[in-house]
Amino acid sequence: MLVSAKEMLTKAKAGKYAVGQFNINNLEWTKAILLTAQENNSPVILGVSEGAGKYMGGYDAIVGMVNGLIKGLNITVPVALHLDHGSYEGALKTIEAGFSSVMFDGSHYSIEENIEKTKELVKITSEKGISLEAEVGSIGGEEDGVVGAGEIADPQECKAIADLGVTMLAAGIGNIHGQYPENWAGLSFEALDNIQKLTGDMPLVLHGGTGIPEDMIKKAISLGVAKINVNTECQLSFAAATREYIEAGKDLQGKGFDPRKLLAPGFEAIKATVKEKMELFGSVNKA
Ligand code: 13P
Repeated sequence: MLVSAKEMLTKAKAGKYAVGQFNINNLEWTKAILLTAQENNSPVILGVSEGAGKYMGGYDAIVGMVNGLIKGLNITVPVALHLDHGSYEGALKTIEAGFSSVMFDGSHYSIEENIEKTKELVKITSEKGISLEAEVGSIGGEEDGVVGAGEIADPQECKAIADLGVTMLAAGIGNIHGQYPENWAGLSFEALDNIQKLTGDMPLVLHGGTGIPEDMIKKAISLGVAKINVNTECQLSFAAATREYIEAGKDLQGKGFDPRKLLAPGFEAIKATVKEKMELFGSVNKA
């Protein structure tokens, strides 16, 4: 059964670890992440961008697939199915389809409009027991067509949004979606600390988890980050393992072209990446 992300994140914040959000693209991705969470006795959040939602044939198809896999694979660890960087309309649609958690990314609106729309969604999600992530200060880079400038969030604006009663808050602290450029300035821990001081118990969310050095991840967790999003890193490990299989000519040997064989190395690579992140984030055995 899908659960809201509230309880797992409240526990993570209090226990000084973070729960990973891993974005899904298809059945292999979803199965790999769910099995790894179960094997490591870790809570997990499956992220779905609006673009990935379209790609997979709509939100109903995703809810059906995820619920079916949870049942078929005997997954007993807490799993939240979460809309990533959603629009207001996307949030309503995913709630309707049966998602257990949504992000409303109002960071590109004025703070007044962001507050207004987030407030409406707080009302809708809290009535249904669904967790809600809000965003202040856009995340840099591009993810599925959502482009952000990479701002450092204003702590007072973070407090204003946190006070609305959202479940978790994504605040830009110099993080970027995708791979980090050579000249990246790093995360702003000063900003994170100021945000944490003003938002108290609120679980903070670190987007752009791919490529952030381990020491920065650990420091961010010590300063209140309780959810870390990883997307590109699973894509890269899947692609590298698939490339290796094809370049070794294995698809041409015997029945190596069978999709269950062809996609197996990439599937195992996603599992290894997710396990590594769960260990780094400290969520192993926290289910
Ligand atoms: P990366 O693709 O950089 O890991 O970021 C993922 C993310 O933040 C999803 O919202």
